Amino acid sequence: MAFGWIDEQAELRRRAGLVRTLRPRPADSPLLDLASNDYLGLARHPEVTEGAARAARVWGGGSTGSRLVTGTTGLHAELERELAGFCGFEAALVFSSGYAANLAAVTALGPHGSLIVSDAGNHASLIDGCRLARGTTQVVAHADPDAVRKALHTHDGPAVAVSDTVFSVDGDAAPLAALAAACRERGAGLVADDAHGLGVLGAGGRGAAYAAGLAGAEDVVVTVTLSKSLGSQGGAVLGPARVIDHLVNAARTFIFDTGLAPAAAGAALAALRLLRREPERAERARAVAGELHARLTAAGHAAVRPDAAVVSVRAPSPESAVRWAADCRTAGLAVGCFRPPSVPDGVSRLRLTARADLSGDQIERAVRVIGETRP
Ligand SMILES: Cc1ncc(COP(=O)(O)O)c(C=O)c1O
Repeated sequence: MAFGWIDEQAELRRRAGLVRTLRPRPADSPLLDLASNDYLGLARHPEVTEGAARAARVWGGGSTGSRLVTGTTGLHAELERELAGFCGFEAALVFSSGYAANLAAVTALGPHGSLIVSDAGNHASLIDGCRLARGTTQVVAHADPDAVRKALHTHDGPAVAVSDTVFSVDGDAAPLAALAAACRERGAGLVADDAHGLGVLGAGGRGAAYAAGLAGAEDVVVTVTLSKSLGSQGGAVLGPARVIDHLVNAARTFIFDTGLAPAAAGAALAALRLLRREPERAERARAVAGELHARLTAAGHAAVRPDAAVVSVRAPSPESAVRWAADCRTAGLAVGCFRPPSVPDGVSRLRLTARADLSGDQIERAVRVIGETRP
């Protein structure tokens, strides 16, 4: 029977406690949200939703074509200029998602004959970029600049190291300055995925590369998503103008994809302007993460010290992690649940996001619920 093998896989997943299901949420959910990636609480900010609505009214519901045909509006150009300026890079290129931006950066900068050195804890979109690229990928130990250095020494010719700046599972930060130094010794480039750093790290949320003194460097390329701190949808690559020009001509997820919807571009631009005006939001997200971690640790949970706004709490097994998250939900708290294959080490976790707009009472309530529902 066609697709019969799917049933066998479904049964294996069920037995391993790894079945995933969709749960549409209502617009007025009563749950306290520590599960979304809306780090700065901007997704429903009136200026951001108005930015989306205005852009849709002016430019239409869709961008109408790929970026090289009709899909580049004045709004896309404005967003690219402001995003590059904010993060301290020469140029930026906006994509329909952060996923597409990562595929673009890795495939276009890892051509045939090149070496791509990839951190073992990288996000799936960087991993998929490595799989699609024509270059050879070498996976190295997590957050280990020496391992990157050794790998780069095995190769003559173009090379690039790719790393998340803040790892999505445990919320730990990459040693970005040391990685850049290891790359420089060999004339290699660095591609850093700042999905969880933009809006949270660096002065006023300018990102991890800015914080590490790497913004605008000729050998550093940063990818971001517009869907987390900026409360919108879409992604971007930031870097030297010659790299961005190269992507326009060579990156297939740029060339063969419809341009980002105007509403998403308008929302992201409004959020960016808000963040410029209210830089304290970035600091507040980091402070909330620190407080969540301190309270969880004091209550005896195995929480990982957060470097940005992601706080991860270890669970004994995939099944208990699912039950823990479900019990939190029943008690009015939405938390993320990471299980294999989304975790590199097989350890399941609850994943909490430290939103800048959480109050002290809400933090206290979240920690109490997590304690009361502990497996
Ligand atoms: C580290 C990282 N990179 C890239 C992405 C993909 O971004 P997007 O959701 O905009 O496709 C995500 C999450 O969504 C992420 O966590």
